[in-house]
Amino acid sequence: MRILVATRNRHKLDEIRAILKIPGVELVGADEVSGLPEDVVEDADTFEGNAIKKARELCAASGLWTLADDSGLEVDALGGEPGVRSARYAGEPSNAEANNARLLRALAGVGNRVARFRCVLALAAPDGRTWTVDGRCEGRIGLAEAGCGGFGYDPLFIPDGQWLTFAELPAAEKNRISHRGAALAAAAQAWGDWLKP
Ligand code: IMP
Repeated sequence: MRILVATRNRHKLDEIRAILKIPGVELVGADEVSGLPEDVVEDADTFEGNAIKKARELCAASGLWTLADDSGLEVDALGGEPGVRSARYAGEPSNAEANNARLLRALAGVGNRVARFRCVLALAAPDGRTWTVDGRCEGRIGLAEAGCGGFGYDPLFIPDGQWLTFAELPAAEKNRISHRGAALAAAAQAWGDWLKP
């Protein structure tokens, strides 16, 4: 059985393949299937909504079972912002440095720095059914950027139980505790058995 993974990001595809190992299931990236739309507009107001929209549109275009993800950062003191707008928090085009600077400005003088990364994975079947699983990584926003690994908000995010940011931790440690890792583990548990041919 082939499952389309709704991403053109090679790194994401490899990470998903490494964790979601289901015997008899081949995970193919969007670049390996012809006739797919270049981009899906992510205009829903929840991670679930965007992940389902991506999965459904690429499932309809390909006729294949399709897996899609949407992720971002939620900050409690900002009412969950930047949330689904994480990639473009400081405006278009997406710019991680500007996003981090805006986040630090928004939290200047704020004591409650509780935050979490979230990742929602949606699985769409050609007959119209859809399922989702959710992964989270709880933590807090640092007072200044630290570290140069990772991407996005990593230099500002300190996961619970750590003094270092995601950008300072080794990649393997980040992957072990990350929201994406948690969502993929939940997907393997929830869907692994019945996706086996
Ligand atoms: P997407 O789900 O790949 O579209 O990610 C949306 C945005 O959320 C990214 O552009 C980042 O700003 C942020 N984000 C998601 N996951 C991470 C992460 O693991 N580290 C840092 N930022 C992330």
